[in-house]
Amino acid sequence: MRNIVLIGFMGTGKSTVAAALAERLGWNRVDLDTSIEEAENATIPQLFADKGEPYFRRAETEALKRELDGREGQIVATGGGAVLAEENRGIMLANGLVVALTADIGTILQRVQNDPNRPLLRGNAEQAVPELLERRKHAYDFAPVRIDTSDKTVEQIAAEIVEQLM
Ligand code: S3P
Repeated sequence: MRNIVLIGFMGTGKSTVAAALAERLGWNRVDLDTSIEEAENATIPQLFADKGEPYFRRAETEALKRELDGREGQIVATGGGAVLAEENRGIMLANGLVVALTADIGTILQRVQNDPNRPLLRGNAEQAVPELLERRKHAYDFAPVRIDTSDKTVEQIAAEIVEQLM
C-alpha cells in the first residue's frame, strides 16, 4: 500500500492518529488543510469567508492530487468534507489505504467545541454537528477500513491501521 489516507468527520482524530502513524512507520505526515493553507497563503476560515466554500473545495481537490498522485509513504489526514466529491474519493482509493475514523456524537462535540477554525460549525457546534453528521452519514462508507475511535487510545488505533498494511 503506497499511502494511508485518513478520512472522517471533524473531531474523529484524523490529525492525531496521523501523527502517531508517522512516528510508528517513519512515513511523512501531511495535513490536507495545512497544505491548502500554504498553497493559498490563507487560513481555512479566511478562505471560506473571502472566497467561499466552492473555491475551498476546488483547492482541496488540488491539494489531494498534489499530496497523493505519484507519491508514496505519505499519511494524509484529510478535512471532514474532502470525501464529498466523487473525484476526491477516486484519488484517495487509487493512491492508498483509505481508513475512516468514526466517533460518537458526544466525543465529536467535546473535541470540536468552541473551535473558531472550523467555519462550517458557525460557532455553534451543538446545532451544526448533528445536522452535518446526518447529512454526511454515509459519506465515509466507501473506505475499506473503518475504526471507531471513541474508546481507544491513539496508539491502539495506529496499531490497528498498521495491521491492515500487512
Ligand atoms: C471541513 C472540515 C475541516 C476543514 C474545513 C471543512 C468539513 O477539517 O477541512 O473546515 O467540511 O467537514 P477537519 O475535519 O480537520 O476539521
